Amino acid sequence: MKNIPIMKPYFDEDEAKEAAAALASGWVAQGPRVAEFEKAVATYEGNAYGVAVSSCTAALHLGMIALGFGPGDDVLVPSYTFVATANAVEYTGATAVLVEVDIRTYTIDVSWVEDFIQSHYEENEGRWINRKSGNRLVGIVPVNEFGLCADIPAVNALAKRYGLKVFEDSACALGAKIGETHEGCFGNPSAVSFHPRKSITTGEGGMILTSDVELMEHVRKLRSHAASLSEIQRHQNKGYLLPDYDELGYNYRMTDIQAGIGLAQMRKIELIMDRRKAIAARYDEFLPQVVPFLKTPFVPEGYTHIYQTYACMIDTERLGMKSIEEGNRFRNDLMDKLEQNGIATRQGTHAVHSLGYYQTKYGFRNMDLPVAYACDRLSIALPLYVELNEEDQDYVIDKLAELGKELISSLKSQTRSVEK
Ligand SMILES: Cc1ncc(COP(=O)(O)O)c(C=O)c1O
Repeated sequence: MKNIPIMKPYFDEDEAKEAAAALASGWVAQGPRVAEFEKAVATYEGNAYGVAVSSCTAALHLGMIALGFGPGDDVLVPSYTFVATANAVEYTGATAVLVEVDIRTYTIDVSWVEDFIQSHYEENEGRWINRKSGNRLVGIVPVNEFGLCADIPAVNALAKRYGLKVFEDSACALGAKIGETHEGCFGNPSAVSFHPRKSITTGEGGMILTSDVELMEHVRKLRSHAASLSEIQRHQNKGYLLPDYDELGYNYRMTDIQAGIGLAQMRKIELIMDRRKAIAARYDEFLPQVVPFLKTPFVPEGYTHIYQTYACMIDTERLGMKSIEEGNRFRNDLMDKLEQNGIATRQGTHAVHSLGYYQTKYGFRNMDLPVAYACDRLSIALPLYVELNEEDQDYVIDKLAELGKELISSLKSQTRSVEK
């Protein structure tokens, strides 16, 4: 039977050579390869600086500390995102205020957010204060979801009107663009991930990208216990005395072994991106012809989607379904059947407001944010990786069509027997 995973990192002997070179050099923790990797990624995106860390979650956490988020602050986060985005806000002591997304792009719905601010906050000496909790509204974290930029110009305009700091969660979006501008180059810092489900990987890993020198210096310090001297500076100065630690820092460092792997990945990034886009284009072409109940990803004019995830939605209207739950049962049955046929799929991501921690802490109910909830329950991500060949991709498309038809006809016969 076929065994088609959802994602498979793309390595050749270059990654193994780089990792071995790091081992041979003796720099196995953070060292010169990390600095080189930071330069390579920042240059690729068009940013002045990159600060590599142990994960994107760590990048989000440090960036938010450096932006000054803390207790008594509200930070707007789209609910349809991996839980790490909201968790990072909560780590700082600030409150993650979960908001709606646009059903076509899966990214933050800026006009919904503006209405929300107007009805839940009031202005006081230039600050927007939460009418219920008294918290100050200080930030917004648009997520460039699945490899597609949110409407960052609109987010920035909103942020200007309400005095908010913007930090882009680009975990999935290295290389994503609007026009010729890459994620993280719209005047806001961003955080990218190098987890194996992302386009390029270092095993675990993340990076803060910014052109703000002060922010860069601050996060660079925070990732290493907030030491006043970096490891390299201490090494070069033959320093035997410990540096000062004048604020609360963390050990969020990336290792040189990981950075070596990352350097090898950066050398093939164009190939990886081109291949991913080509596979997505084949899905775009063939799925609507044979699987009409799947809505394929929408890409606004002028945007470059890098398809970290190829996330579709079950078209409940087309299937004549009346509720999200009905569509969700269909989606889950389809995923089960695909799994039985050797095809791995996943839901796109989750609606954070439907997760236990956030429901318990903030009293959310699923339908409080119905669009994010629908995306959670109706999305299905299809296999997409560099080595997915046409034969296997055709198998995925054919099975989706065949199993979908089977499910639809069994639903119809169930409905008929209920009506009798
Ligand atoms: C939108 C988003 N933010 C943050 C993260 C966390 O990334 P990492 O696993 O590198 O911590 C992910 C991971 O999937 C993500 O999808």
